Parts: sequence; structure tokens; C-alpha cells
Amino acid sequence: MLALAWSAALLAASAPVMASILGRQPEIPASCAGLPQGSLGSLSYNFTLSAYNLDKPNANSTGVPLVLALGPPGTSAAASEWVIATQKTAGSDDWPYWTMVNGVLTPQPGPNEQGLGAYASTVDQGDVPAFIVTIAESDPNPADIYCGADESDEYLVLSVNNNPDGFSLCTATDDYDQNVVVYEAEQSNSAYSYDTCYAVHIYIVPYTA
Ligand SMILES: *[C@@H]1O[C@H](CO)[C@@H](O)[C@H](O)[C@H]1NC(C)=O
Ligand SMILES: *[C@@H]1O[C@H](CO)[C@@H](O)[C@H](O)[C@H]1NC(C)=O
Repeated sequence: MLALAWSAALLAASAPVMASILGRQPEIPASCAGLPQGSLGSLSYNFTLSAYNLDKPNANSTGVPLVLALGPPGTSAAASEWVIATQKTAGSDDWPYWTMVNGVLTPQPGPNEQGLGAYASTVDQGDVPAFIVTIAESDPNPADIYCGADESDEYLVLSVNNNPDGFSLCTATDDYDQNVVVYEAEQSNSAYSYDTCYAVHIYIVPYTA
């Protein structure tokens, strides 16, 4: 038992040492693998998200503001599923900015939402990327699937599952009529009408309070 604990401690200590001996770059998180050099899984700043239309002219170089928005009604009273929607269609905007650490994208609660946490769910093709909002957990297990991709644009471009080019904005089919972010939109998904979808890049815009 003691020997095991010792070798585990040694292993933990030796990995960074080895990396510095070999002069390695800081480790690239799996969520950024395959993306251009300069892509980051951890950002040192707070940010907002903005959708830039890839098919049609945009009003400005930032695109339209996105926010965390209440998604379709769920089955649990204690937790609710939230999505990313345009600010214009979202209703409320109680999560003023986001952070990213080791590939985990996290909306941060505003003054009205203190004590709550929002945790990223995994995202499959056709999904509306979702966040579970619940009482803040001490040991949450959010999906570490996001990255800020360096596409040589004015801003880093949000990527999920190593793909910065998979996002669309689509009109949700629920009662709210929200314009929601979708990943690799599919005709067969009933959460949104596929015919309304248009491709966007999601920009990571540094937040200044
Ligand atoms: C993010 O915003 C919060 C609240 O305004 C602030 O306390 C914190 O310092 C900010 N973090 C950075 C890295 O600017
Ligand atoms: C860019 O245009 C959109 C759509 O008109 C607007 O909502 C947004 O506030 C503008 N952003 C900036 C930075 O001016």
C-alpha cells in the first residue's frame, strides 16, 4: 500500500519534470488537438459569445450576441437544461459572461443566479449544445470538449469536438421560438427546424464589465 502510494506520488511529480527536461510546449488539451497552433483550451479572460453569419453579410465584424437561454422543459425539478441562443430571442440574460478552463466552457452566474452552476454536457452531431443548471456542485464533471480555435480572425473561434466549423443558428421548435446554436445540424432532429439553419462561426469576445 505504502509502496503504491509512493510510486503514484513519484509519477505525479515526474511528469512535469520530464516535460521541462525535454523542453516541451505546455500540453495541448485533447479538445484542441488538430486545431491550428495558437488555439487555447484555457483562456485567461472572461468572454461573451457572438455568432458571425458565414453566408450573409453581418452588421459588424463581431456578429450577433449570444447568451445562455432556458431550453426545452426537462424532467427534473432540481436541474434544468439551458442552451445558447441569440440575445434577441433568449428572453433573460442572467449569465453575463463565460470562462474556459481545460476545454470546459462555463457560463458564469450573474447577481440573480449566485449559488447556481452551469455544467457543459457532451455534444453529438445534430445536438443543441446544452448546459445543466443546478445548485453549484463541489465536484462537477462537465464535458471538456471545447476549445478557442485560432483561425487568424479578430477573435478566437469556439470549437466543440475539435470542430470550429460545425455550428449553425436554427429556429427552435419549442414555444419560445428561440434562435439556438446547433452542432452539425440534421434534418431529423425535431428540436429545431432544419430549413431555418444557417452556418455561423462563434466568436469568443473578451468581456469588459
Ligand atoms: C472575470 O469577471 C469577474 C467578475 O467581474 C472578476 O472578478 C474576475 O476577475 C474576471 N476574471 C478575469 C480573468 O478578468
Ligand atoms: C453588431 O451587430 C449586432 C446586430 O445588429 C448587434 O446586436 C451588436 O450589438 C453589434 N455589435 C457591436 C460590437 O457593435
